[in-house]
Amino acid sequence: MSRLRTDADLRDGKTGFDMTAAMAAAARASETGQPDPLIRDPYARLLIADAGIGIWKALLDDSLFAKLKSADPGTAAYLDCLRSYQAVRTQFFDEYITDAVTRNIRQVVIVASGLDSRAYRLDWPAGTTVYEIDRPEVLDYKFKILASQGVAPAVDLREVSVDLRHDWPAALWGAGFNPLLPTAWLVEGLLVFLPADAQDRLLGQIGELSAVGSRLAVETAASYAKGSREEMRQRFRDIAAELGLVQPTHLQDLMYNDPDRAVVTDWLNTHGWHATARNSGDELRRLHRWNGGGPIAEDKDAFADFVTAERR
Ligand SMILES: C[S@@+](CC[C@H](N)C(=O)[O-])C[C@H]1O[C@@H](n2cnc3c(N)ncnc32)[C@H](O)[C@@H]1O
Repeated sequence: MSRLRTDADLRDGKTGFDMTAAMAAAARASETGQPDPLIRDPYARLLIADAGIGIWKALLDDSLFAKLKSADPGTAAYLDCLRSYQAVRTQFFDEYITDAVTRNIRQVVIVASGLDSRAYRLDWPAGTTVYEIDRPEVLDYKFKILASQGVAPAVDLREVSVDLRHDWPAALWGAGFNPLLPTAWLVEGLLVFLPADAQDRLLGQIGELSAVGSRLAVETAASYAKGSREEMRQRFRDIAAELGLVQPTHLQDLMYNDPDRAVVTDWLNTHGWHATARNSGDELRRLHRWNGGGPIAEDKDAFADFVTAERR
């Protein structure tokens, strides 16, 4: 896989794990702590306890959030929107996985699983195997933190510690994956960090490993207009200074805004899948979680699609 962001871009110096994974977990922890949460991830807070998450800390600390709201209501609205986005996305993909196992799929692969705790928190039918693919330091970190608190997987969990730029299908096979069985794949929170050719390659590799009847769920790559990206970077910088937080990295700097990127549903529909998309902005509205997104309100491409597909 070509041209992924460099490791140095993505890792938190202290723990060695991926910053983007910590930010997603911070939003899940924050939602879990809300009075009427859409999702409950009891492990997310534990998993980020040690992470330097910069301005995202405001999502976990009411007094910081109040300060942020009075200093910059637009950025507060944006963070609030990201928390809701994460909640809606987690719920959507939880339902996708639950539906797949209800349909007797017993092999699940979570690509770039990061600090996803589904293997620990969902109800899994007996005989299900979950494969988590991510970099060794991310999976080791997650396993170590949860094990130290006596938290064990609720399913036969196989960690596939491999960089997606390397021969990950071979590593998956080596962990016991059977390509002759239908599989439920999940690619959440990854495509936006890949350039267009790497996206195509990943989807192609998944297709090659998918028996008829397999399922695939993908969060497409959101893209911010150039002006919004610069504005958000500046706002984050200002707010981090105002709240005395160290902003380790700017998410906007890690994203690929690749104009040549394939539309995932179109790509899948011409490569052996039957795919449909639901827009996350619509999903936020349906679940009464739409607050407009503050500064990205007009940026319709900033709201990714949730794509689900079945292998024909
Ligand atoms: C935004 S996080 C999403 C994690 C998880 N899917 C979630 O939604 O919480 C992106 C994940 O992609 C992983 N990732 C990025 N590039 C990778 C690569 N080249 N090989 C393996 N994993 C990679 C990171 O380690 C990180 O855990």
